[in-house]
Amino acid sequence: MVEQSVYSGFLCLLIGLILITKIQLCVGGITSDYVRNYNSNVDMPLDSDVFQVPHGYNAPQQVYITQGDHDGKGVIVSWTTPNEPGANTVLYWTENSCVKSSAEGFVVRYKYCNYTSGYIHHCTINDLEFDTKYYYEVGLGNTTRQFWFVTPPKPGPYVPYTFGLIGDLGQTYDSNSTLTHYELSPLKGQTLLFVGDLSYADNYPFHNNIRWDTWGRFIERSAAYQPWIWSAGNHEIDFVPEIGESKPFVPYKHRFSTPYRASESTSPLWYSIKRASAYIIVMSSYSAFGKYTPQWKWLTNELPKVDRSETPWLIVLMHCPMYSSYVHHYMEGETMRVIYEPWFVKYKVDVVFAGHVHAYERSESVSNVAYNIINGKCSPVKDEFAPVYITIGDGGNQEGLATEMTQPQPRYSAYREASFGHGILDIKNRTHAYFGWHRNHDGFAVEADTLWLLNRYWKLKERVAVS
Ligand SMILES: [Fe+2]
Repeated sequence: MVEQSVYSGFLCLLIGLILITKIQLCVGGITSDYVRNYNSNVDMPLDSDVFQVPHGYNAPQQVYITQGDHDGKGVIVSWTTPNEPGANTVLYWTENSCVKSSAEGFVVRYKYCNYTSGYIHHCTINDLEFDTKYYYEVGLGNTTRQFWFVTPPKPGPYVPYTFGLIGDLGQTYDSNSTLTHYELSPLKGQTLLFVGDLSYADNYPFHNNIRWDTWGRFIERSAAYQPWIWSAGNHEIDFVPEIGESKPFVPYKHRFSTPYRASESTSPLWYSIKRASAYIIVMSSYSAFGKYTPQWKWLTNELPKVDRSETPWLIVLMHCPMYSSYVHHYMEGETMRVIYEPWFVKYKVDVVFAGHVHAYERSESVSNVAYNIINGKCSPVKDEFAPVYITIGDGGNQEGLATEMTQPQPRYSAYREASFGHGILDIKNRTHAYFGWHRNHDGFAVEADTLWLLNRYWKLKERVAVS
């Protein structure tokens, strides 16, 4: 009898130990227990001060800039005039100069259902000096407005530079909080990498494009002064054949310019730029990307071109994440992952930023490229030379947070939290970069999740040199 109870006690202990081991084996990274203060997910009203129309006849509004060439010596200035086309000219000058130069752009308009846009101007300024502050003026002939920007340093391996990261922004009170946090961050992002889903105008009846105008006015306070690097999300597709809108991306393509031709792309939806020590590849999750498609072909030629001795940091932006452990949008990026992950691993991409899921998540450095239908191996493995995947679709739009997570947290997931916020990628030199994620409910300087990124390409190079 005694023997039997000792035996069953031992058995229980053994099962317990096995279970504990199993649980530990399943546990991934950190799922934050932070309880966020949940605001209502409504857009700010049309008469909010952040949407204010500038005073004066035909005053330029929705002014924003983006990079205008491949190297960073060009800037595209975009603005909208409401009453008449007005001038397409941009005047620009350096801080200490009394001579003003001018560049000539073009104007477009579009109709979408029952909406007609204002006069949308795009003007590329070329051959600027690197690392220089410029002032610029738009609206000549009627009401003029002045802004400024600073060009990046010449691309080079040791050039420090800071990038902000925002995705899925929208125009709610939370969106405003995200933008304010980004602007007031002591880390001072110099260029914003935007990972898609901009205005959420398409959530309104007939995709009310007035909400594209309000969004343009909302972001002007940042985007007129530093480049926002655009990538398109599903909320930019605006494909509604039922109301006669059967051509995708119409509002987005008219409103936002990208320097795609400079990287020999055939579409404004995918392209690349060099900026300081970074090479940034923008992809389109909602354009054809399978084998032989224009996007696939472009990337085939593009990746081997990246010279890591000039731009050591290789960054990819896309809207739909290839790694996400949230329930919402689960595995939507899987087709893209199957096609492109082997290239990202091969070419030593450092970090892939995506949005789409309205939350934050950072992966470990992982690769899952061994899979084929014969060997059945399909699970991400840690690989210090593989990219880190960061989902930052937490800008704060009207659809609210994605709070439901797959359980248990998979091992590839290092940190996940359903809060609104933004990121800062602070490139220090050729080998080290620091990434911080800032949640909106903390002070401007607080980092809720951080990571030191070691440059994949140079880490491997050094490892090979030593061995
Ligand atoms: Fe999305």
